[in-house]
Amino acid sequence: MEPAAGITERLVERLSCAARMTILTGAGVSHESGVPTFRGEDGLWGKYRAEELATWRAFEADPELVWRWYDYRRQLIADVNPNPAHLAIARLESACDSVVLVTQNVDGLHARAGSTAPVELHGNIWRARCTREQTTLHLPDNPLSEIPPLCPKCGSLLRPDVVWFGEPLPNDAYERADEAACSCDAMLVVGTSAMVRPAASLPLVAKHNGALVVEVNVGLTPISALIDATLVGKAGDVLPELVDRILEHTGGSKSPSSAEAAETTSR
Ligand code: OAD
Repeated sequence: MEPAAGITERLVERLSCAARMTILTGAGVSHESGVPTFRGEDGLWGKYRAEELATWRAFEADPELVWRWYDYRRQLIADVNPNPAHLAIARLESACDSVVLVTQNVDGLHARAGSTAPVELHGNIWRARCTREQTTLHLPDNPLSEIPPLCPKCGSLLRPDVVWFGEPLPNDAYERADEAACSCDAMLVVGTSAMVRPAASLPLVAKHNGALVVEVNVGLTPISALIDATLVGKAGDVLPELVDRILEHTGGSKSPSSAEAAETTSR
């Protein structure tokens, strides 16, 4: 393991040589936009009880309460903008078609920054799902005009199209994330406490399959000791510099030559 902090030339070189890169993000990447994280000092789970707001049982017991909480979060997110970390990720993606972005965030900020197809492991707060037919729909009203909202087709209750505690991840999203973790040469893990599985296992899957795994976080996490490097700092400071340096190294488009790719494979 490299001793954290500091984007070294060697690290930039190794990231630049990756033929396939996967980026896994968590709530920390949106923190500088003004979206609260879940854990830590001002984290949502320090103020609210997950079991009363983010479980199917809570929704069945009081759908109005659950929807009011999601409406509050939706309004908070609607008022903020993507930050330099989201923008740097989108810039790397547009320079390189072999970058896969996987996020645990439901805020939609990666897409607003220009990321084209983020794999959303925990759903999206701007979508709802019919509790009867399981169809999903975009629900852009802000604030919501009716709480709880009802399905425009069948009149049944809608639920937020997010993953709650005790629920499995959406199959297709998880399969794409797992495939991206298994097949990448490098993974960047940005702003996640790495405490919620299965997302938290993806960096270890990547490591196990031979990828270089580097996290960007304001502090250390349970996976820090198991991966290659931790860049300690705010994502909005570290990522723009890291992406600049990678793109400088590759001449602006991250498409490694086969020789570079071979070097990565034989690392
Ligand atoms: P957490 O709140 O658990 O962790 C946020 C991480 O971001 C912490 O490790 C912080 O140190 C780090 N962090 C904070 N600000 C940062 C910054 N400016 N730059 C870099 N890092 C920063 O959020 P997640 O790991 O995303 O799930 O949580 C995972 C899941 O737990 C969430 O998707 C949510 C939650 O319960 C569901 O709701 C299903």
